[in-house]
Amino acid sequence: MILVTGGAGFIGANFVLDWLAATNEPVVNVDKLTYAGNLENLASLQGDTRHVFVQADIGDSTVLSALLQQHQPRAVLNFAAESHVDRSIHGPEDFIQTNVVGTFRLLEAVRAYWSGLPADAKLAFRFLHVSTDEVYGTLGATDPAFTESHNYEPNSPYSASKAASDHLVRAWHHTYGLPVLTTNCSNNYGPLHFPEKLIPLMIVNALAGKPLPIYGDGQQIRDWLYVRDHCSAIRRVLEAGRLGDTYNVGGWNEQANIDIVKTVCALLDELRPRDDGRSYAEQIRFVQDRPGHDRRYAIDARKLERELGWKPAETFETGIRKTVQWYLDHPEWVAHVQSGSYRDWVHQQYSAQEPA
Ligand code: NAD
Ligand code: TYD
Repeated sequence: MILVTGGAGFIGANFVLDWLAATNEPVVNVDKLTYAGNLENLASLQGDTRHVFVQADIGDSTVLSALLQQHQPRAVLNFAAESHVDRSIHGPEDFIQTNVVGTFRLLEAVRAYWSGLPADAKLAFRFLHVSTDEVYGTLGATDPAFTESHNYEPNSPYSASKAASDHLVRAWHHTYGLPVLTTNCSNNYGPLHFPEKLIPLMIVNALAGKPLPIYGDGQQIRDWLYVRDHCSAIRRVLEAGRLGDTYNVGGWNEQANIDIVKTVCALLDELRPRDDGRSYAEQIRFVQDRPGHDRRYAIDARKLERELGWKPAETFETGIRKTVQWYLDHPEWVAHVQSGSYRDWVHQQYSAQEPA
């Protein structure tokens, strides 16, 4: 079996669902259930004995060590993290605790477990760390896309904490020989995405008749990948990645934020037209920019394609249509995640925003 951390969040839950659809190998899913963790994401696995859920913090060495001994996984995949840049600006402490200290404690628990495995199991074992392209910093308009050898130049508390965790993973390989793999992926979108991030926030705000807040001039560029394509890349790296290597994962789909939001509006205009017949784009509002806002991310994913034969299955057109449709089909999921703490966050982040 495999052990996944953070498997009740956006990417982790998509990964667990995909994994159990594609293989019969059981999953132990360790998640602290922060505001971003949601067991409703895994509701379709109720009664499925291949999925064992444990509520725990990756920083809890005692629990992690006991779980590793009990379940004897052949791999540990680390999705658990604090993941939202804006929250990291308001309160970096949780990011240091989970992304840095938590990853360190997890690495130590895994190292102790791996050291005690019989020779065959030790050789086959893998620790896969899920990271982000944001560790590389920001690009100018004409710079080439990030390759795996790009310098680490993180600019936000979030990306700095992820960069620190990547360095720890690297060091545990070089120093202790732990068999690690790291993936650095671009922005994901798709079903189960928490509506604090750009695309799901725009969908739920549009449908609720609320403003669509674009930071700054809306010309910041991100490279968007459908979440299930990220999951297939992780499966492929786990299966065939070279030990100690990092793999960039991306969608070859660079777009400015304003264009993403206009595409979402156009799809909603088609699939769920406003009662007054006007476009959702009329709800767009430019607001104050994010401090230290990275201008452009772009991923060069050629290594993953060349060495492991991975390519995304979705284009942005097919992926974003599926995504908007998923939110239209799941109003109860949206209503449930918009709990008290979500409302508090939206109030804190957006009510004080001056128009740009
Ligand atoms: P998310 O915020 O939706 O989910 C994170 C999950 O981790 C939640 O279920 C949460 O409860 C859990 N968690 C948080 N702290 C924990 C702790 N201390 N112990 C155990 N569980 C804890 O995040 P996501 O978007 O699914 O991202 C998953 C991973 O992928 C993260 O490591 C993130 O850095 C990385 N990543 C995300 C993106 C993206 O676009 N979302 C892109 C590239 C990489
Ligand atoms: P986000 O989804 O938070 O991902 P990240 O910051 O990790 O790339 O934001 C994506 C882009 O959208 C980023 O450039 C910030 C911008 N953005 C807005 O313009 N308005 C918003 O309300 C949010 C949440 C993000």
